[in-house]
Amino acid sequence: MPTTTRPRDVQVAEIAKGTTVIRSRIWAQLRFEAEYSKGKGTTVNSYLIQAREVALIDPPGGSFTDVFIEDLQQHEYYQQINYIILNHINPNRLETLKALLPLAYRAKIVCSRPAANTLKAAFPDQELPILTVRAGDLLDLGEGHELKFITQPTPRHPDGICIYDPQTKILFSDKLFGSHVCGDEIFDENWKALQDDRSYYFDNIHASQSKQVEDVLDKLNLYRLKILAPGHGPLVRYSVSRLIMDYRDWCNDQTQKTLTAVLLYTSAYGNTGLMANAIVTGLSAHDIQVTAINCEVTPPEEITEAIEACDGFIIGSPTLAGHAPTQIQTALGLILSAASKTKLAGVFGSYGWGGEAIDILESKLLNAGYPLGFETLRCKFKPTEEILRNCTTAGSDFAKTLRKTQQARAPIQSLGNEATSDRTELAMGRIIGSLCVITLQRGDTQAAILTSWVSQATFTPPGITIAIAKDTAENTLDHGGDQFVLNILRDGKNLRRHFQKISATGQNPFQDVEIDRSRNGNPILKEALSYLECTVQSRMDCGDHWLIYAIVNTGKVLEINGTTAVLHRKSGSAY
Ligand SMILES: Cc1cc2nc3c(=O)[nH]c(=O)nc-3n(C[C@H](O)[C@H](O)[C@H](O)COP(=O)(O)O)c2cc1C
Repeated sequence: MPTTTRPRDVQVAEIAKGTTVIRSRIWAQLRFEAEYSKGKGTTVNSYLIQAREVALIDPPGGSFTDVFIEDLQQHEYYQQINYIILNHINPNRLETLKALLPLAYRAKIVCSRPAANTLKAAFPDQELPILTVRAGDLLDLGEGHELKFITQPTPRHPDGICIYDPQTKILFSDKLFGSHVCGDEIFDENWKALQDDRSYYFDNIHASQSKQVEDVLDKLNLYRLKILAPGHGPLVRYSVSRLIMDYRDWCNDQTQKTLTAVLLYTSAYGNTGLMANAIVTGLSAHDIQVTAINCEVTPPEEITEAIEACDGFIIGSPTLAGHAPTQIQTALGLILSAASKTKLAGVFGSYGWGGEAIDILESKLLNAGYPLGFETLRCKFKPTEEILRNCTTAGSDFAKTLRKTQQARAPIQSLGNEATSDRTELAMGRIIGSLCVITLQRGDTQAAILTSWVSQATFTPPGITIAIAKDTAENTLDHGGDQFVLNILRDGKNLRRHFQKISATGQNPFQDVEIDRSRNGNPILKEALSYLECTVQSRMDCGDHWLIYAIVNTGKVLEINGTTAVLHRKSGSAY
């Protein structure tokens, strides 16, 4: 078990002919993101291939710039580096690159085209010696080290590549096959002990991008692999096939989950991306299949397909020049046209001052009628540890609401007395309704009627129908022009039990319940999800019930994150 008192250091070891690993080690938690939270430290693995030409693969991030360069300077190959190969780029790595480039002055930077664009934006005043590579390109370092590039774009790292060296049969796999564990073992001779850390790493980094991971695994079928050389943790020599198989299984596990959420975002500088990762952690902890979609690199058809298929969606955006980036605006348009209004939604984003993009996303979704699964998350610039924790909690809340909604929609499986009950009644019992309380005051008399027999009836004017038992409605709502409030109850609150009890005892219905007054003077239940102020237009005599048609004069949502309470019944012969 690593001890947190050891200082950061660099461990160097030869792993194959002409190939060295340089492991920048930290024994304590590197950063506060969930992926590091097992507290076992981590290693950031860089690799050096020395043949006729010298290539340095993946220098570490800014936390290790000093120790890494100090170690590098002790070796003669240092000034001979011909290539610095970057399997992906992030702001951390740029810090080390800035320090390294003037020292390794002969080196060309080798990376994918999206990475090259990021580099050019990060070094606007410098003409960088960049060599961009595509899938299948080769870089011959001599002595059999003819490196082959394999692209592995994912939502987290759209610029991702990995490298195969046919001389040593090593795959420099970057984000694939890693784990956050610090130790003295270079390889995985104790791979069984690593299983938990490997799957935890997968869950945090790859579960939400399992489709792309499967694509890369397919590509790897073409190669004979002796060593997997990841960006973090022990190198894989003793469990290569096992780990690849595990990755297949873990990807497959994602598709077995019954509830799905799509997380759409872009992030120009990584801050919204960090929030997205933390939200994914919260969702995944509740067994939700999450598909992360980086809108910058995903075609609209794929976005539409994912939105149509999911149970809930979450959208995140930075604010740039007062707007959401074009790709997010497109994604919002696709949501509004493709996602049914019952889908649970969520909004988040990082901003600098106004945060206009977040406000626009939230208001468009609310206006369209989507229920929100958590209170919109806003973060000024880079998220702190606390904000990331809030994002994870929001992901959990979203997952719990999704599950509850699924349970509410699930058919009642066992009815027990099905054989003897009237089949028609049972069939009618499958009709469900929103639980509501009609409230009204006439002079000194106040009334509250619990009902689930409410339905929207017209758009213009906005109108509803309510069926009320004749014995309940005696002298109530019997004239055109009578006014009342329809309180729509929120799932999970105890108001239903309260009003059931009250109607049995005949007590003042509003005793122990907080109320406001509507414009038409009737009570509004403050704990309701929303309410409508209504006027009776007409009523129809229907057997043992009156069917009342009322116009909605005005209304308000009182709790934006809640879902409507629904009454499921076993039989159509009772409420
Ligand atoms: C060119 C540019 C324009 C920006 N415009 C705005 C803006 O209009 N309103 C705002 O709140 N923040 C603005 N910001 C701040 C970004 O929203 C903030 O840096 C945010 O953290 C970026 O998120 P990201 O890292 O996910 O890209 C701007 C930043 C840049 C670089």
